[in-house]
Amino acid sequence: MTAAIDFDAIPRDRLPALLRRMPKAELHVHVEGTLEPELIFRLAERHRVPLAWASVDALRAAYAFADLQSFLDVYYAGAGVLLHEQDFFDMAWAYFERAAADNVVHAELFFDPQTHTARGVPIEAVIVGLHHACRRAHQEFGITAKLILCFLRHLSEDAAFATLEQALPYREHFVGVGLDSSELGHPPGKFARVFARCGELGLHRVAHAGEEGPAEYIRDALDVLRVERIDHGVRCVDDPALVQRLARERVPLTVCPLSNVRLRVFPSLGQHNLPALLDAGLCATVNSDDPAYFGGYVNDNFVQAFAALPQLGARQAWQLATNSFEASFAPDADKRRWAAELERAFAAA
Ligand code: ADE
Ligand code: ZN
Repeated sequence: MTAAIDFDAIPRDRLPALLRRMPKAELHVHVEGTLEPELIFRLAERHRVPLAWASVDALRAAYAFADLQSFLDVYYAGAGVLLHEQDFFDMAWAYFERAAADNVVHAELFFDPQTHTARGVPIEAVIVGLHHACRRAHQEFGITAKLILCFLRHLSEDAAFATLEQALPYREHFVGVGLDSSELGHPPGKFARVFARCGELGLHRVAHAGEEGPAEYIRDALDVLRVERIDHGVRCVDDPALVQRLARERVPLTVCPLSNVRLRVFPSLGQHNLPALLDAGLCATVNSDDPAYFGGYVNDNFVQAFAALPQLGARQAWQLATNSFEASFAPDADKRRWAAELERAFAAA
């Protein structure tokens, strides 16, 4: 498929426009992480929910994170303004408007039901509100949007089982399950039984691993949870045999460059290991994680990473978009259509 594209003929100064224009799938975005400060304040006023910050600017000023946990503390507090089905719709719809502008053709959104059910919000309001936004994204933008229910790993496996039970009446509205929140001290093995049950139910399985946690957590996510993708996974490079296995088995990594810098996984974008992951033949993809908190949506991640890393050029842009389609849970017919659209975007560059 690549034979027709002369990557070396595409000048570097055309890269930002090409990165923005090319069709892409976003596979690692937490919908609660798309809640912009303005919407947090609007929802807080709508529901008279008190906030710990006096203004939008004060809230933005709190977005200086030392690590994953310091981010999660703010992220869970921000999600406290989400109460009704309409709030979940509004949040997801705002994301889809941005995704459409970034030429995202397919999105798989994480959501954290336990963050809401713990505050007395019915799981129906969460899932139905998000589902309606997904449906409208398809109708208005042609974006195929899917939901992935995440279990919070700082809570117990019994709590994950209870959440799965509550969600099963809405089974047709989500395609898979994931594992997120505080990684260190909460290894994948803690959730072995609930992931096995999700496999029996025919759900896709993914997990955050190797973000702050060790390469061993990536192995356990594969061997114990039997996941199909690893979210982040950047610490795989600490274990060369694991890198070879990920490449051989084409296990996708959903990499989030701006997140990794904001949460101090890497000191700067210029020191990110995305080029090394691609050079090792891994099915790496670029994603935004929590764009409202980390300074940018998926195109910002692409454009800023390519600007900071001279090893990344047109060939890698094509590879990353191609990987995003391969790694998605979309039907093969959609993948072929997006591949053809990608060819056209490069032919016009
Ligand atoms: N929840 C939201 N963003 C997350 C991240 N980057 N890692 C783990 N859990 C998360
Ligand atoms: Zn994440």
